Amino acid sequence: MNLLEVKSVCKTYGTGEAAIHALKNVSFSVPRGEFVAIVGESGSGKSTLLHMIGALDLPTGGKVFLDGKDIFSMDDHNLTIFRRRNIGFIFQAFHLIPELTVEQNILFPILLDYKKPDKGYLEELLTVLNLTERRNHLPHALSGGQQQRVAIGRALITRPALILADEPTGNLDTQNSSEVIALLKKASRNYAQTILMITHNRSIAASADRVLNVSDGVLTDLGGVSNEKLS
Ligand SMILES: Nc1ncnc2c1ncn2[C@@H]1O[C@H](COP(=O)(O)OP(=O)(O)O)[C@@H](O)[C@H]1O
Ligand SMILES: [Mg+2]
Repeated sequence: MNLLEVKSVCKTYGTGEAAIHALKNVSFSVPRGEFVAIVGESGSGKSTLLHMIGALDLPTGGKVFLDGKDIFSMDDHNLTIFRRRNIGFIFQAFHLIPELTVEQNILFPILLDYKKPDKGYLEELLTVLNLTERRNHLPHALSGGQQQRVAIGRALITRPALILADEPTGNLDTQNSSEVIALLKKASRNYAQTILMITHNRSIAASADRVLNVSDGVLTDLGGVSNEKLS
């Protein structure tokens, strides 16, 4: 069964003459464990698509099924819990909690669910994200790249079935960026986590299992793509 099914999703912002048709009848599905890159020009609708799939905003039409569940049919309370347990968000705005340390920020989604943290996985994430020596620091004492890596750790700690990432390596240097991509790939290979990642980096997109292109609100499946074909 597909982990994710997007069916005829439309999103229009505004009305009348000011209406912007950001998504036009977008349909696709993603099997469990697939690593999908989303590419397309600025303003084409990529972020809007991830917002719909994460149920952060309502579409104008269409449905999204995650693990067989119609996410827009849930009430706010159930949706909040479902989202926390099943979706990891890695967006441009980090939304770290200023009063909590690096380690506490990463563990936060686990603690909200009254679950016991997997200490081994926490250490692995801190190591791969190069945050071990910063684990007791507060967010204000970190660089932008370090804050982004904390947000990535927080998205991964619950091992969510679906990870939605909007240019997750946008603020990182080449070294950190390839480590983060390797970490996401490992998550998809080892734990069958499904990853949808917006990227402008051609070689990162070429290394994905599949590439989806968004152009003026229309989605096209490019399949597995070589670096040359993406230029
Ligand atoms: N909250 C919003 N209100 C009105 N228009 C929006 C909003 N968010 C995005 N848009 C518009 O929708 C289109 C798609 O935007 P977006 O999904 O952010 O594109 P991308 O992520 O590919 O750069 C753009 O024309 C943008 O201006
Ligand atoms: Mg965007």
